[in-house]
Amino acid sequence: MGALLHSKSVVILDFGGQYAHLIGNRVRRLGAFSEIHDPSTKAEELKDAAAIILSGGPQSVYDPKGPQADPKIFELGIPILGICYGHQWMAQELGGEVQAGDMQEYGFSEIQVTKKDDHLLRDLKPEFTVWMSHGDEVTRLPKGFEVTATSDVCAIAAMADEERKIFGVQFHPEVTHTEFGMEILQRFLDCTFSAKWELSDVEDHLAEEIVKKVGKRNVFILVSGGVDSTVAFTLLNKTLGTERVYGLLVDHGLMRKGEIHEIADAFAEHGFTNLHVEDASAQFLEKLKDVTDPEAKRQIIGDTFIEVQAEVAKRLNLDTKNWMLGQGTIYPDTIETGGTKNADRIKTHHNRVAAIEEMIKEGRVIEPLKELYKDEVRVLGEKLGLPHHLVWRHPFPGPGLGVRILCAHEPSPLTKKEEAEITVASKMYFFKVLPVKSVGVQGDGRSYKNPLAVFLQKPFSDLRSMHGLASALPNTYKQINRVLVCTSHQKVPELIFTPTTITRDIAETLREADHIVHREMREEGLEEKIWQFPVVLIPIGTKKGGRSIVLRPVESQEAMTANAFHLTEKFLVRVTKKILEIEGIDMVFYDVTNKPPATIEWE
Ligand code: XMP
Repeated sequence: MGALLHSKSVVILDFGGQYAHLIGNRVRRLGAFSEIHDPSTKAEELKDAAAIILSGGPQSVYDPKGPQADPKIFELGIPILGICYGHQWMAQELGGEVQAGDMQEYGFSEIQVTKKDDHLLRDLKPEFTVWMSHGDEVTRLPKGFEVTATSDVCAIAAMADEERKIFGVQFHPEVTHTEFGMEILQRFLDCTFSAKWELSDVEDHLAEEIVKKVGKRNVFILVSGGVDSTVAFTLLNKTLGTERVYGLLVDHGLMRKGEIHEIADAFAEHGFTNLHVEDASAQFLEKLKDVTDPEAKRQIIGDTFIEVQAEVAKRLNLDTKNWMLGQGTIYPDTIETGGTKNADRIKTHHNRVAAIEEMIKEGRVIEPLKELYKDEVRVLGEKLGLPHHLVWRHPFPGPGLGVRILCAHEPSPLTKKEEAEITVASKMYFFKVLPVKSVGVQGDGRSYKNPLAVFLQKPFSDLRSMHGLASALPNTYKQINRVLVCTSHQKVPELIFTPTTITRDIAETLREADHIVHREMREEGLEEKIWQFPVVLIPIGTKKGGRSIVLRPVESQEAMTANAFHLTEKFLVRVTKKILEIEGIDMVFYDVTNKPPATIEWE
């Protein structure tokens, strides 16, 4: 990364936080052009920026290996806002002090505004809810700064040097869970003279980029039916003409029920006759049959996609000189992979596996949406005239049901000691840590931990408080990253583990459960209220060969953070009953955890 794309951009220096691009997205929504840069960018190159925002990051600022920005940015005389790691780095760099806190804060927290006339925080509320994700904290202010907000856990939750327009916040104003987050960012932007940005200009800009990058070549694009690849396919068709685009929908055997036909029919209705379907399910399932590691599954699925695509290309005589590979990659897909230098590797996206990275280096990949967020892609999709139901389809991951079958050869129980540490006093419920591990995200890093299942003695008597517990428990007990409510059992049954990997039968079982859930969700009018509704199969049942289904509905904007969607008792009872009719399914759970500490998918 070098000099600015535009003069008067708001520059986000990316210390590797999971939310760095979210900041960029929010800034653009507020109408200012934003660009993301490497933190080591020299201050000299940033002198034309309108402002600088220092992002969060997974490391500690006192760790010599932690990413550093050029301290000369403080001499540029432009407004600076530090968020989380950015706030701490700034404090340390300007002569303050940062230390590991006594308690960590992940999730919702309350802050009290301590300086009533502070530029960012004035006239909001004396106390309001913010989103925190940190273990370290600023313990001594740098010279010239005042504390502007405080929380029970963190004495310096916000600080400001009003005169120099340098602000620091420990919380994340960019995530929607922070009350007044957008106001706070807007107030920061009010101190700047930034370049304007509007989504309506984007289509022309993207079309220009496509023409420039593709040149005289044609594009071979893998389409999944999800909104990203659908919009990318449509944009390429519109820009280059259908005769220069070959769309390939690969059936990997891990799609949802009836999905292939739905997608193919919907495209045909819109005049895209250049979409071809290839049934490669046998090839995928053969390679996945003994695999349990989530990263290995993704890798295999990603690599097999490329193989199938290469086979089809060969069959069609699509030579690499005249053809490029198109992908519907969007911004979050690049950051969660560790796509920027300092981001911790949360997981590998199928469109960022080694073979693709190699092709990107060779200039053989076109990803027209790679700087956009899901909400921007949807606006673009509507503008391109795509039907509402395609644009608003729930996002479905490329590896499909493959990331929703939790695979394991052996159970992974906690030790007796670890389990005994978890004590929750209540007569209302029983608790049991399940002997499986799923992926989560805590403080910008990856976690791989057990879920805690709650068995309610009176069914659903206290569903509301469960959502509260789901934030509190993983903060207190480091050995868990999810809280589940069992919707099929009131007492802890004997839990039997059955070794599980991806097979056609298992995929079929999950496909059926997923179909039931999505049908009921649509009938209940919940499709546009719920952002995504993964249905997950886990290798635990009440008898040998039995397994369970986890319902994981979430509300989210760009998947960087998410809240568990509150389902009603009526819905849960109905769906649970229907799922239990599926052969081989013994129990049903409802995952009430937010992201963080859990991720949306289980892997
Ligand atoms: P997590 O589980 O990290 O997921 O909270 C965030 C969003 O990303 C989707 N996801 C994927 N999408 N390929 C994709 O195209 C993948 O490998 C992949 N893994 C997760 C997930 O469905 C959610 O919307």
